[in-house]
Amino acid sequence: MVIRSPTAPALGQLTDLLGSTEEIANRWAKTTAEPVTLRVNSTRITREALLQRFAQKGVDARALPVSPAGIVVASPGRVQDLEGYSEGLWQIQDEAAQLVGAFAPIREGLRVLDACAAPGGKTCQLAEHARVVAGDIHRGKLRKLETEASPLGLRERIELLEHDATLPFPSGLKLFDVVLVDAPCSGLGTLRRHPELRYRRKEEDIARLAKLQRSILENCVQILAPGGVLVYAVCSTEPEEGEEQVFAFLRAHPELALEAPAAVDPWIADGCLRTLPGDRGWDGFFAARLRRAR
Ligand SMILES: C[S@@+](CC[C@H](N)C(=O)[O-])C[C@H]1O[C@@H](n2cnc3c(N)ncnc32)[C@H](O)[C@@H]1O
Repeated sequence: MVIRSPTAPALGQLTDLLGSTEEIANRWAKTTAEPVTLRVNSTRITREALLQRFAQKGVDARALPVSPAGIVVASPGRVQDLEGYSEGLWQIQDEAAQLVGAFAPIREGLRVLDACAAPGGKTCQLAEHARVVAGDIHRGKLRKLETEASPLGLRERIELLEHDATLPFPSGLKLFDVVLVDAPCSGLGTLRRHPELRYRRKEEDIARLAKLQRSILENCVQILAPGGVLVYAVCSTEPEEGEEQVFAFLRAHPELALEAPAAVDPWIADGCLRTLPGDRGWDGFFAARLRRAR
């Protein structure tokens, strides 16, 4: 299917009617009624204290039912104007993505690698609890991660690494206790927010991406310490990228075992975490936690 872009005259007419592109964007941003989901920056404020500040400013916000750090704001308007934005008290993050981040067992002092980190929602979530090496193949996207982390006060806790995760990591890096592979994927669990994927994705993409994911997993397991945990995640509900991928990888790596944490129990089946798009307004995610034998 070909999606036509509007012709120049049509765009001109729209601009005459509505004003400049910037004005249109601002007007849209001010009037948007879409709820927005936040993760509280636990290094700066508690969820209860942030909810109180929202209430004092008349912001319609409530705690999310599943993620302990999550808040939903009913009509945020321009997010830059929302209470706490300039103080870095929160970051926008889907509740299901928050669950995936929380799936990685993080505590201060552990060596943590986020191998496919940009734009950095999960890196920042992890960096609230430990220092993180954040790798990504795209330099520009790592810059975006920096601009996300700085206002949250987390930049100092993150070491950026421009690196292709299919290739051996620099020899100077020591083994990691926790490795997160939030892999490049079809994104088909996020159709709600990216409806264009319906037209962009082709059937053969799934096999190509599954091959790339396997190659990243094979490389990342090399840098995992004995007793360490590899968390694999995709924002897709395709089995080739999710359970089939993980079970094939496990068959080739008897030193790894699936570990199902109890914290997110209702969404665990066969030891893996699955969220469905549309369910509670979430994105569709798949995640699995694999522990390496000592
Ligand atoms: C699903 S996104 C990660 C989202 C991120 N974890 C977050 O929560 O914001 C996948 C990332 O993998 C990166 N990527 C793609 N191929 C890669 C590779 N071969 N090595 C490392 N990163 C790669 C992409 O640039 C993209 O930023």
